[in-house]
Amino acid sequence: MKTLKTSSSKKDLLSIADLSAEEIRIILKTAAKLKKDHRMGKDSPILRGKTLGMLFQKPSTRTRVSFEVGMYQLGGDAVYLSTNDIQLSRGESIEDTAKTLSLYLDCIMARVYDHTDVQKLASVATVPVINGLSDSFHPCQILADLLTVQEQKKRLGGVRLAWLGDGDNVCNDLMLGCAKTGIHMTAACPRGYSPLEDVVALAKSEAKKTGSEITLTEDPALAAKDADVVVTDTFISIGKEEEKATREAAFLPKYQVNAAIMKLADSDAIFMHCLPAKRGQEVTSEVIDGQQSVVWQEAENRMHVQKAVLSLLMKPRR
Ligand code: CP
Ligand code: NVA
Repeated sequence: MKTLKTSSSKKDLLSIADLSAEEIRIILKTAAKLKKDHRMGKDSPILRGKTLGMLFQKPSTRTRVSFEVGMYQLGGDAVYLSTNDIQLSRGESIEDTAKTLSLYLDCIMARVYDHTDVQKLASVATVPVINGLSDSFHPCQILADLLTVQEQKKRLGGVRLAWLGDGDNVCNDLMLGCAKTGIHMTAACPRGYSPLEDVVALAKSEAKKTGSEITLTEDPALAAKDADVVVTDTFISIGKEEEKATREAAFLPKYQVNAAIMKLADSDAIFMHCLPAKRGQEVTSEVIDGQQSVVWQEAENRMHVQKAVLSLLMKPRR
């Protein structure tokens, strides 16, 4: 079985920054194969005897279920751990939790608020750690998005992608994913809601190697014009609920993906959203439930790419 390259004894996936262009290619290829196998009823138990621990500080529908079911399909097991129910909630440190969990598990997936929590977990755990979303990054979502674009557009390099809305965790990793795969990305975000500066700088330097163009603007029409893919996300990410009023004022109506925005894009453009969506806010029902939307294919692809990541990160048993 192929494994992802690493100089140490394990590899973590905390952001798309952790993956080379070649590793992304391997994950997407493996995911496509696992998807085909699954469709033909031919899942193989390549993770038999392996257990994934799934640590959640935040709620989730897709990440929890797709990781859990993905493990079952590959012959392994998954354990759900709400941080409210384990000793972390009573003050046990992340470091001691990481050491303990490494004794029982073959891999840890964690969804956290502060990105440094998942970094801490990974630095102490002796098994691979996968970020299932932090306030800063969401690598598994981006791998699913790349697989979806590849399926729909038959290529990645040269595709024109428009991001409208918040320069959030999904936007950060998407920018890195686009830069590394040659997708041209224009992100239209209101002032004060741009993706992380370090991420933009890294994406621009990666883009030089692939010929991708990374552009930031405050003008949604500029981003959407002739785009092959239009992407958005909630204006109010988990943990930002108290900013609801200021965020709605900053984003609405200008940054909503609606029929007028889709009209500016290529006539074959697709619409993507990581979900959960708020219809009438970042996207209209007409668009997300319309012909150009591929959000359900995108959600399904979460499971296939994660199965690929799990199978590549968990080395065969010694
Ligand atoms: N897209 C995504 O990560 O969904 P969940 O929050 O439901 O896991
Ligand atoms: N940006 C969103 C993504 C949800 C999958 C959030 O962090 O809530």
